[in-house]
Amino acid sequence: MTLPIRIAPSILAADFARLGQEVADVTAAGADWIHLDVMDGHFVPNISFGPDVIKALRSYSDRMFDCHLMIAPADPYLEAFAKAGCDSITVHAEAGVHLHRSLQTVRALGKRVGVTLNPATPLSVIENVLDDVDLILIMSVNPGFGGQKFIPAMYDKIRAAKAMIGDRPIELQVDGGITVDTIADARRAGANVFVAGSAVFKGDGVEDYRKTIDGLRRKAEEGRG
Ligand code: DX5
Ligand code: ZN
Repeated sequence: MTLPIRIAPSILAADFARLGQEVADVTAAGADWIHLDVMDGHFVPNISFGPDVIKALRSYSDRMFDCHLMIAPADPYLEAFAKAGCDSITVHAEAGVHLHRSLQTVRALGKRVGVTLNPATPLSVIENVLDDVDLILIMSVNPGFGGQKFIPAMYDKIRAAKAMIGDRPIELQVDGGITVDTIADARRAGANVFVAGSAVFKGDGVEDYRKTIDGLRRKAEEGRG
């Protein structure tokens, strides 16, 4: 199953004082999805933003709102994120003991269902939920902060995830340390959705963002199959 290459800027690296404009700018610059990193200061050692901020941003973009929940527990908040306007909700397999229940809850809310794994978590944790997800996110850094280096061992993990997915129409996303230097190999390994925070937002305004997004897309295309 060949799914399109998608570039998903993470607004974690945007200017938080002008977040609405940043979302609008990155949309105008060609972002396919808007990646929303939600952190609780408990599951990860950082705090970002929650459903009210996402709700306020919703009218600034018509792109898919791709919400990455780095919170534990996640279940009590899933409905709030669905109502805030997230189109896709990704939960960490490590965030609770009833992963299947969390995924079913997202499905019942009518949203696309994502599951993600920290770098140290083996793929076997998700082998029994493959038919319950639309997206698998391979974390290529330890979650919590932007601007970290891609962990090279994650290329093999992406390759193994791709093999595990087989013919299922599951998006394979990679998040952390994606730049023009890592994206082609991540694509070669089998990923089709690329989150990029600091690489995109190091620029300033639509034209810079467009150059970076186009550059990332070109590099990803080089790594295609
Ligand atoms: C890390 C987040 C990432 C982060 C990526 O916890 O999940 O989405 O924003 O940032 P960069 O692209 O700078 O590694
Ligand atoms: Zn993320």
